[in-house]
Amino acid sequence: MIPDEVVEQVREAADIVAIIGEHVRLKKTGSVYRGPCPFHQGTNNNFSVVPGKGYTCFVCGEKGGVFNFVQKRLGLNFVEAVKYVGEKAGIEVIEVDKRREGPDPREPLWELNATVSAWFTEMLWQNAVGAHAREYLIKRSITRETADRFALGFAPREVGLMREYLNGLGFDDQRLLDAGLLVKREEQDEARPRFRDRLIFPIHDTTSHTVGFGGRLLGPGEPKYLNSSESAAFSKGKLLYNLSSARSAIRKDERVILVEGYFDVVRMVDAGIESVVAPMGTALTDGQAELLERNAKTAFLLYDSDAPGQKASFRAADVLLARGVTVRMVVLPDGEDPDTFVAKFGGAAMEKLLTNSLDVFDRKVQLLERGGWFADLQRKRRALDALMPTIRSTKDQITQELYIARASAAAGVDRSVLVHELSVVTTGSGRGSRPRQAPPPPRDRDPDAPPPPRPLGPYRGSSPESSAERDVLRVMLLHPTYIEEIIERVGRLDDDAGSHPEVEIDEQDPRGALRDPVFRSIYDAIAERGAEVSAEQLSEALDETAVGVIDALLAEPGAVIDPRATIDGALRLLKERLMQDKLGELERMTPLATGAEKDSLLRESEIMRRELTALGGRSWRSVRRMIE
Ligand code: CTP
Ligand code: MN
Repeated sequence: MIPDEVVEQVREAADIVAIIGEHVRLKKTGSVYRGPCPFHQGTNNNFSVVPGKGYTCFVCGEKGGVFNFVQKRLGLNFVEAVKYVGEKAGIEVIEVDKRREGPDPREPLWELNATVSAWFTEMLWQNAVGAHAREYLIKRSITRETADRFALGFAPREVGLMREYLNGLGFDDQRLLDAGLLVKREEQDEARPRFRDRLIFPIHDTTSHTVGFGGRLLGPGEPKYLNSSESAAFSKGKLLYNLSSARSAIRKDERVILVEGYFDVVRMVDAGIESVVAPMGTALTDGQAELLERNAKTAFLLYDSDAPGQKASFRAADVLLARGVTVRMVVLPDGEDPDTFVAKFGGAAMEKLLTNSLDVFDRKVQLLERGGWFADLQRKRRALDALMPTIRSTKDQITQELYIARASAAAGVDRSVLVHELSVVTTGSGRGSRPRQAPPPPRDRDPDAPPPPRPLGPYRGSSPESSAERDVLRVMLLHPTYIEEIIERVGRLDDDAGSHPEVEIDEQDPRGALRDPVFRSIYDAIAERGAEVSAEQLSEALDETAVGVIDALLAEPGAVIDPRATIDGALRLLKERLMQDKLGELERMTPLATGAEKDSLLRESEIMRRELTALGGRSWRSVRRMIE
């Protein structure tokens, strides 16, 4: 059985003209479409289709709605017909088991959320406590009409108001706790509202249930945005803000515009650009990409123009490309987000930006060209390394071919070289040996929740090579007199590693001397401040994990007996690793090189091999074999 509401939704969303048009040659006459009747095999245009309604044949009398047509024409039963149309309309049709009688288990939560959402709205507009929230909206030039369109609300600072109201309606505390509207820090604590003094953005799923909320602080403070906590009913990775409202516009415009935040969505819609959605403070997930793919074949990415925004948008692009979606990059002027841009320049200027957008791959190539990344062999290698992941993730064959052709033209490298690279999985040196990055912390970690547990045992770093990095840090912390010398020597190694293009989507450059993200952050914090650095400065500058690692390094039993020998040993290993990687890079440059270039590559590799041997001891690879 398919829930009635879903059937209705599919019926509403269905483009009956397009669906019938796949079987009948339809011609527009006035507001209706006409063609030969497929049921009595008519030849005259006696068959008429009314958009949004149904079809009728004036000769044989066949008539009905979109489901009737699909059922009769394709021989499907009703459920199959709804699924067929749903597929085309981008609505997921899930059959529910008739025997599992009873409502959806999430129903009570939806009900509670809808109730509290209405209350938030009342607090915003009809209550004295909402005065400064109303002022805030005025300050951000959000009209009442626009606010109502998004059902914006306000969660007051006062602790008892919401609870009293909801208790009065028969929603008990346990239900409020389950829904995450109330939270307790400790079991014995008094429950408090999760959202206090925040502007509220209700969040809906694709079937328009209120599944959660996003709240923006009205004043300064942290976190600026707070969302409902993750649960079975509210899973950010499977939701997109504004999708249920934007869906018909998305399908009509045949595009979806992806922005970063709530206010960006609100401002764009306010300016008449309605096909806009936002992930909520998370990197775009495959689940979200799937939701988008069902509704539009082209996505416009409209992220902040700063470096993190650019990285996030390229990463989102790869997720979408993997789903076969065409991705276009919109470039905002420095310092603007869609909200501020539209507020300053208006919707027409925004449409112009959208028109001037570039295919994501062209944008990457453009950035690389501007940065001079195709100038010489080594830079070319790194530029291609930055392009390959995008080519690799592109699911659509034709698009992939196109990208290969463009990369090949930009780099002046034969396409067969790129095709070959795509077919081999890189391992060992070069890009394959990067350490796994710790996932970034969620941006809206619940401030009421206890801190995440520390890992058990001493932190060992993200790769077997990290023990040398660890030794370097231990000397820096225990023997500050060596700090300057270490900074000097590590700095030289880092310089040797060279730089990488900006379109690289890694969080950090994983190819310097120290690569473990935690160790690197500690090292950088010390290096920035020099030998005089104090423990307080470090704990202020670093996150919890890094501070914990410092404590552990300091508390470790056993002194560094010979700091000099420890540094020399550790830095030698780190240098070996760098050289091995460069050697790998040289090898991977060979296929890109022309005759003369090949000779010099060979010479360079030979020199490097000799140097590596001269470094003596065990070569890095054999050390690695030992550790693994
Ligand atoms: N976000 C979040 N949690 C955070 C920070 C951000 O969920 N701690 C999400 C929100 O959806 C927010 C979006 O990321 O709308 C963008 O955040 P941010 O860049 O901080 O937005 P600003 O443009 O700075 O916010 P505002 O315009 O409200 O000042
Ligand atoms: Mn903003």
